[in-house]
Amino acid sequence: MSELETLEKDLIKAIKNTNDLGALEEIRVGAIGKKGSISALMSGLGKMEPEQRKTFGQAVNKVKQAVTENLETRKAELERAALNKRLETEREDVTLPMRENPVNQGRIHPISQVWEEITEIFADLGFKMAEGPHIETDENNFTKLNIPAEHPARQEHDTFYFAEKQDGSRRVLRTHTSPVQIRTMESEKPPLRIIAPGRVFRSDSDQTHTPMFHQIEGLVIDQETHMGHLKWVLEEFCKTFFEVDEVIMRFRASHFPFTEPSAEVDIGYSKVGEEVRFGGDENWMEILGCGMVHPNVLRNVGLDPEIYQGFAFGIGIDRLATLKYGMPDLRSFFASDLRWLKHYGFNVLNVPTIQGGL
Ligand code: DAH
Repeated sequence: MSELETLEKDLIKAIKNTNDLGALEEIRVGAIGKKGSISALMSGLGKMEPEQRKTFGQAVNKVKQAVTENLETRKAELERAALNKRLETEREDVTLPMRENPVNQGRIHPISQVWEEITEIFADLGFKMAEGPHIETDENNFTKLNIPAEHPARQEHDTFYFAEKQDGSRRVLRTHTSPVQIRTMESEKPPLRIIAPGRVFRSDSDQTHTPMFHQIEGLVIDQETHMGHLKWVLEEFCKTFFEVDEVIMRFRASHFPFTEPSAEVDIGYSKVGEEVRFGGDENWMEILGCGMVHPNVLRNVGLDPEIYQGFAFGIGIDRLATLKYGMPDLRSFFASDLRWLKHYGFNVLNVPTIQGGL
């Protein structure tokens, strides 16, 4: 047997005995790679006589072809075997139920939803957003709002006080969003038209009170503002919020130190079992306080009440949520009970807009 024949036989035997792709590649490089045994024979051709070159060249080429074919066949076999092995172990059971999309699992808390709904409505009416801190000065929370030191309204607010500072001043957890009125009037010039949603704090807890709750403050200051504007804005708001053409509202004369005259607005509702249903005049739920900004408040922020007037209102966000979506106990809002949130929460992608619906 010639040397060439032995080489061919050995290579083909090695190829057939190989059981993995890496080893097969090594054989390929060793035979027909740049420095491989067959390639070396080819490069020797140049030194031969023409006749010999022809016959030997043809013979080497035949060997190369046979080896290449064997390499390809074995490679395909090994690849198929590897694929079959993977298919065997990575089998998927397509009849298993699908895991729920996280977007469908998550929920928006009803308070966040109602907060968004309310701000969307007032934004549409041309109100700008304003903000203030949770920790407020006594002046902003009370004094400048025409609630002086010994005023009984301070007791009504069940205030959480911070320790008194050395200079006698003290801070409070804001008991309402009304101090944002003061902050806005002190930092911006009229005309003003703002809303300020946020958390407020009072030391109080029962079925309709929680120590932390949410309000949205509204303030309009201009030179020709009157009670009729206030009533219209609140009626528009309620109609849009409850998505009805007519709303049953009751304006009841009231008292707030920072407004004169003052009113409270009640919404009619009925109770079906434990559930609160909007509409009717069976029961009334107070949802907001409002009035014309007191001249003393305007003076306290350096505005001339002879030139400017305005109206203000404070809405309880949590109360509105119970009324619109029928949740019986305010405290369950903050119990962090996932089952409750699944039931009363909103789809993440359900962003309230006036056009798209609230
Ligand atoms: N700040 C009041 C409260 O928390 C609510 C309120 C009443 C706000 C009348 C107002 C208003 O802006 O005009 O009880």
